[in-house]
Amino acid sequence: MQTRVLTGITTTGTPHLGNYVGAIRPAIEASRRADVDAFFFMADYHALIKSDDAARIQRSRLEIAASWLAAGLDPGRVTFYRQSDIPEIPELTWFLTCVAAKGMLNRAHAYKAAVDRNAEAGEDADAGITAGLYMYPVLMAADILAFDAHQVPVGRDQIQHIEMARDLGQRFNHIHGREFFVLPEALIEEQVATLPGLDGRKMSKSYDNTIPLFAGGPRQLRETILRIVTDSRRPDEPKDPDSSALFTIYRAFAGEAETAAFRQALLDGLGWGEAKQALFERVNAEVAPMRERYESFMADPAAIETILQQGARKARAIATPKLAALREALGLRSASTAGVAAARPKAAPRQDKSPRLASFRDADGQFRFRLFSAEGEELLLSMPFADPKAAGALQKQLKTDGAAAAVLRVLPRGIALEREGAVVASTPDYPDAPARDAALARLREALDQLATQDGRGPAPAHGV
Ligand code: TRP
Repeated sequence: MQTRVLTGITTTGTPHLGNYVGAIRPAIEASRRADVDAFFFMADYHALIKSDDAARIQRSRLEIAASWLAAGLDPGRVTFYRQSDIPEIPELTWFLTCVAAKGMLNRAHAYKAAVDRNAEAGEDADAGITAGLYMYPVLMAADILAFDAHQVPVGRDQIQHIEMARDLGQRFNHIHGREFFVLPEALIEEQVATLPGLDGRKMSKSYDNTIPLFAGGPRQLRETILRIVTDSRRPDEPKDPDSSALFTIYRAFAGEAETAAFRQALLDGLGWGEAKQALFERVNAEVAPMRERYESFMADPAAIETILQQGARKARAIATPKLAALREALGLRSASTAGVAAARPKAAPRQDKSPRLASFRDADGQFRFRLFSAEGEELLLSMPFADPKAAGALQKQLKTDGAAAAVLRVLPRGIALEREGAVVASTPDYPDAPARDAALARLREALDQLATQDGRGPAPAHGV
């Protein structure tokens, strides 16, 4: 099974070399692995918490999208979208807000730090703090839980947010009696370099010590590299590579042999001026081809828009049915179904017009079953089970809970039934999305009919 790995990028800044080495490059490399199902999105709702500068947010969304695409992100392979194009995310944020303990949010690092700053300044504890900042972790949990991400690669500063997402997912699962959400894990990349900036501290916008990735072209890149702080050793004096930010940045862009040669040159007294030129050339060799792609994307925002719209469609194919199931579980149901159910319990369908399950053993001796509609159409084929009891237990679950027994995951060509993150059954392939959606409706109906066959309704989500 593929591991779903999800990453959000807050759209407030312009990518710099530190972002590239620490986040963009490793994430794109990981997204090429066959066992990874990668989701990348621009966290532009989160950006609104940090900035009310509309022009800056607009620019940053474009620059970040262009940067990731230029760096090799393949939108055909990964799911690449903007948070604000997925209305299911704010909807889920509210559902999670309603199970979030306020005390947990009080303990969030970012909020607590803001309160502490106010206390130090002798201000009211919540002075200048928006509810947006306070709710940041819930929005982030919705980003992750809406897509059942297994892993979230983050820096150490974000671990608490992943723990909160787990907590919220778990609470919701517990209250509503079913594994609605996969509980995500933080993926901390220990070996990923944090790049030093111009002054030797971590490269970060907040220290104003960054080297731009693409902005300003090769000239800006070179001029910024010339501003890297070095010691005052003259040419011919041996330099200490290990205490030099310049060398650390070089190493992040060079292979082993090149790095060893550069280290030796510094030890042999290479002048800082020449060393900076060598660094510029090394970085530019990797960046230049990407910069060309970046510039052509920036010149064609409509192309970016198309890619992001396609990404949003892919993402919503997962989030929409997921939120539909959640609405159902929460009681946000169609008035007509509720009214009918209350007025007259559904009569048991006639025996000859019922969907049915049929078990069989496949060629490998494994146990499987199919679900047929009342009309005899094959709707579902289970995965093979070595243990007949497991196959039986799943059928029993479908008979008691109907469609609520599993997560119905909408795929491009069909639908997969998932329990605890694993696919347990799937539909045949359908030729196109409308055919698939119609099949989804028939499948839901058949599953729910199955569960009402002996006169009971599908089991309520709460284990009453
Ligand atoms: N909070 C993250 C950051 O500042 C950005 C983010 C928003 C995110 N939603 C996410 C990261 C979901 C991972 C998953 O870096």
